[in-house]
Amino acid sequence: MQIRIPRGWETPEARVTPEHLVFGRRKAFGIAAGLLGAAGAAQAQQAAGGLPPAMRNTRFAPGREISPERDVTTFNNFYEFGTSKSISQGAQRLPQRPWTVKVDGMVETPREFGIEDLLRTMPIEERVYRLRCVEAWSMVVPWTGFPLSALLAQVKPLSSARYVSFETAAIPAVMPGLRQSWYPWPYVEGCTIAEAGNDLSFMVVGAYGKLLPPQNGGPIRFHQPWKYGFKAGKSLVRITLTDQRPVSFWERIQAAEYGFWANVNPAVAHPRWSQASERALGTNARIPTQLFNGYGEFVADLYSGLQNERLWA
Ligand code: MTE
Repeated sequence: MQIRIPRGWETPEARVTPEHLVFGRRKAFGIAAGLLGAAGAAQAQQAAGGLPPAMRNTRFAPGREISPERDVTTFNNFYEFGTSKSISQGAQRLPQRPWTVKVDGMVETPREFGIEDLLRTMPIEERVYRLRCVEAWSMVVPWTGFPLSALLAQVKPLSSARYVSFETAAIPAVMPGLRQSWYPWPYVEGCTIAEAGNDLSFMVVGAYGKLLPPQNGGPIRFHQPWKYGFKAGKSLVRITLTDQRPVSFWERIQAAEYGFWANVNPAVAHPRWSQASERALGTNARIPTQLFNGYGEFVADLYSGLQNERLWA
C-alpha cells in the first residue's frame, strides 16, 4: 500500500479558499484572460487598476487560508513612513508613477525598466505565498508578479556576480521616517545569485488582483517566502549584481539579531523571543512555524555545504 504524506506546503482541499471567492471580483469584469480578445483583456486590466490579468500558479499552494485583504493592507512594516504598523494612510503619498527600477552592476547590459514596461513584458502570474515576519506574525497573500530570474535574464549577469542587492526608495518629501537619521537609509537587502535564481524568488507588482498598494511596497517589491519578511524590500528602485555580500539595513542596525541569510527556522529563537509559533494575521490563531516557512522542498538544497554560515537569524 502506498501512503502519500502531504508535503509541508500542501493544503487540505477543504481549507483552500474557493477559487470563485478569490477570482470573483475579476470574473465580474469578464476576465478569463485567454478567452477574451485584446480589447477585453485591456478592459479587464483597466478594471484591476492597470494590473494585467494573471493566472494562478498552483505549484505553490499556501497550506493555509488567504489572510483578509483589509488586515494585510492596514498592518504594515514600512519604517520609511514610521515605526508603527498604521502607516497605510501616510504611505499613499508615495508616488507610484512614473517609477523605474535600475538593474546594474555585474551584468552585460545594465538597464533601467519603467514599471509599465515590466507589467507589459514580464511573465506575470499569481502566487499565493506565506509571509513570516521575524516579529512572529504571518500572513498568506495572493501576490501578482514575476520571477526575479526573468528580470535578471534581461540584463545577463556576469559569471563574476555572486550576490544581488536590493535598494528601496528613499524620498524625504513623502517619507517622514527618513528624518530618523540614526537609521542607515536607504533600506537595502540582499541574497546570493543562487537564491535569486530560485523559482520562488518573486518580484511582486500586485496583491488580491489589484496593483500593489504603496503600503505593501507598491509599485514593486521583492519576496522570498522561505525567509523572514524583512528580506522583502519594498518599493524597489535599484537591483545591483555584485561580488560583495550586501550588508542589509537591519544587519547594520543590529547584526546580532538580523543576519544576511534569515531563513525561517522555528528551532532557532530570536535573541529576544521564540520563533516556534506565529500569529496568523486576521485571526487570533497561533500556529506552529515551519522550517523554511514550509518551502524546504524547494530551497533546502541551496544551503547544502553552508552549515558554517549563520543561516537562520
Ligand atoms: N521594506 C522597506 N523599504 N522598509 C521596511 O521597513 N519592512 C520589512 C519588509 N520590507 C520594510 C520593508 C518587514 S520587517 C516586513 S515583515 C515586510 O516588509 C512587511 O511587509 P507588509 O507590510 O506588506 O506586510
